[in-house]
Amino acid sequence: MEHPNPVVVDHPLIRHKLTIMREATTTTSKFRMLLREISLLLAYEVLRDLECTSIEIETPLERMQAPKLEGKKLCFVSILRAGNGLLDGMLDLVPSARVGHVGLYRDPKSLEPVEYYMKLPEHIGDRLCIAVDPMLATGNSAAAAVQRIKDAGATRIKFVCLLAAPEGIATFTKAHPDVPVYTAAIDRELNDHGYIMPGLGDAGDRMYGTK
Ligand code: URA
Repeated sequence: MEHPNPVVVDHPLIRHKLTIMREATTTTSKFRMLLREISLLLAYEVLRDLECTSIEIETPLERMQAPKLEGKKLCFVSILRAGNGLLDGMLDLVPSARVGHVGLYRDPKSLEPVEYYMKLPEHIGDRLCIAVDPMLATGNSAAAAVQRIKDAGATRIKFVCLLAAPEGIATFTKAHPDVPVYTAAIDRELNDHGYIMPGLGDAGDRMYGTK
């Protein structure tokens, strides 16, 4: 592992917004808006090492060489369905990035993750892949999703979540020591139902107003 895992993206704005998200009385629309805002702030840190190429431009005063991102080298991969909440803010920041989706559910008998949807852009091996899922709880579905992204040819992957449990970080990092994990906070533990404590509840339900 050549990176400290996890990277906690600690910033007063993120701390403040996350506190409001945790509160049980926060509305669905506010929750979604805050998740979008935090994801933008997380992306700022996660994408710090993106490479730029130099292009020639003309300012109103003279020509110059200026740095520009190569948007096509990036791919966000949302782990359905809650991953979509992190995707929006990241796409606000990098609108030209490609987007993939991975959907998994847990088989109630085997407890193994089963794929129900997977769509990734072409030439994924040429891109930095940012896999997103707000809650790194047991770590099993995140690890399985990242394995599928690797199987499709990706070699450079980062994983981004909003909240992580110590158990999830351990499971994920054991499965993918090469994949850096970025999170806004690490909570105390998982409860017996696999919820992060103190957490914020079910991120998908809170984003979409379902139960
Ligand atoms: N998924 C969630 O949405 N919340 C948790 O606490 C754990 C997993």
